[in-house]
Amino acid sequence: MSKRIVLLGAPGAGKGTQAVGIQERLGVPHISTGDMLRAAVAAGTPIGLQAKAVMEAGELVGDELVIGITRERLVQDDCKTGFILDGFPRTRGQAEALDALLADLGAPLDCCLALTVDIEEIVPRLLKRAEIEGRADDNEESIRKRMREYEEKTAPLLDHYRAHGLIIEVSGMGTIDEVATRIGEALA
Ligand code: AP5
Repeated sequence: MSKRIVLLGAPGAGKGTQAVGIQERLGVPHISTGDMLRAAVAAGTPIGLQAKAVMEAGELVGDELVIGITRERLVQDDCKTGFILDGFPRTRGQAEALDALLADLGAPLDCCLALTVDIEEIVPRLLKRAEIEGRADDNEESIRKRMREYEEKTAPLLDHYRAHGLIIEVSGMGTIDEVATRIGEALA
């Protein structure tokens, strides 16, 4: 079964939600660059101070910074048996940096799991989360900006991974359990 996985999908596609189940199933760490950056913002570290306003606006944090924190995380011991990368890579530069790092480690990706969703489904999901969690970038303006960033910079990575024969596409529509079942079947 695949153990080195990139999870790709639009904001609100369900990457973080589904990563929890995949982590339990495969026993490998879930690495979310969004979570790492939010933790840095909450702790007021230099990285957090750089990232805060950019994240709130729904824009992408600079490649150099994000590649740096991801590289530091992926070389840790618990990633030796695999990982689920959620929210990284998001640009061609990040994808190339990841390819190079994994080549150095002799640990190539097993697959890129792409969660596909209809845009109309996403906005209500994220506005609902805004009511519950109050995430700073879950307002309509930032959500629209995150969508545009995804379409312009991240969606083209589907072709990058398709060209390497690594894409597994799964519909992220329906209930959380229905999506989890599809993912389980796709990764088996
Ligand atoms: P990040 O935290 O990665 O946010 P995102 O990509 O916008 O993703 P979300 O967390 O909103 O969506 P998700 O697909 O994980 O969905 P989730 O499972 O949470 O990034 C935030 C910001 O950090 C970026 O905008 C950027 O500024 C910066 N950043 C992060 N990584 C970066 C990088 N590599 N480079 C540059 N900048 C970076 O689900 C969403 C909601 O829907 C939840 O409430 C969930 O309960 C609900 N839900 C999930 N599935 C279903 C379902 N099937 N039915 C109904 N509800 C569902």
